[in-house]
Amino acid sequence: MSKSSTPVDEALFGFVAAQTIPEDDFLRDLRVASLAAGLPEIHIAPEQAAFLRIALQAAGAKRVVEVGTLGGYSAIAMARALPDDGRIVTLEVEPQHAAFAREWIAKSDQRGKIEVRLGNAMDTLPALAAGAADAVFLDADKERYVDYLRQSMRLLRRGGILFADNVLADGEIATGTSAKVQALRAFLAAAKALPNLRSVIVPLGDGCLFGVKQ
Ligand code: SAH
Ligand code: DHB
Ligand code: MG
Repeated sequence: MSKSSTPVDEALFGFVAAQTIPEDDFLRDLRVASLAAGLPEIHIAPEQAAFLRIALQAAGAKRVVEVGTLGGYSAIAMARALPDDGRIVTLEVEPQHAAFAREWIAKSDQRGKIEVRLGNAMDTLPALAAGAADAVFLDADKERYVDYLRQSMRLLRRGGILFADNVLADGEIATGTSAKVQALRAFLAAAKALPNLRSVIVPLGDGCLFGVKQ
């Protein structure tokens, strides 16, 4: 590691996390209820939610596509960055997850901005309009990330932002051999090879690819 890079251990990261926007009460309640409802605990980390929110606000984003809704945690966090006429379309294949997300989105102050579309994203993504998205957030099945990348580049306008979660694969990305890790490595290689995407991995949570379409 070069002298200009500081390794971040758990203690140091505790400080980093404490400096980010605190999780609001609504998202904390959603998290607790989602656990009680038996949803997997795989929502983004609060510091990632803060990062998405700040990046979307800085970009003045209005139209966002999310792949992988789960309980709506990240969708609601992102919606908070959008103006009143902003809109998030979020795609989810599991009816139970979509039902929970719809219930909590309806209870939130972001309800008018978020639409949950039930179905496999491989079927629902191609139905979305080309060149209209200010940002796309990939967070569903990692085995399909390369396909989602192709769709994202179709959906994004020039200057639009691509986010993709879990690119550190629980720390396995450099050395792991599972199908999931191989798919994520293929995704990162495909993203790096795109001449019209400039990207960097932001090591928050399980790692977030952050790119801008040229
Ligand atoms: N973005 C959420 C977490 C998403 S977890 C948050 O941070 O709050 C991944 C979600 O993707 C799960 O709910 C899973 O059911 C969904 N998913 C998996 N494969 C999918 C597919 N092919 N199409 C749409 N959603 C899918
Ligand atoms: C899994 C999916 C995610 O999006 C995540 O952030 C963590 C784990 C999973 O499918 O195991
Ligand atoms: Mg994820």
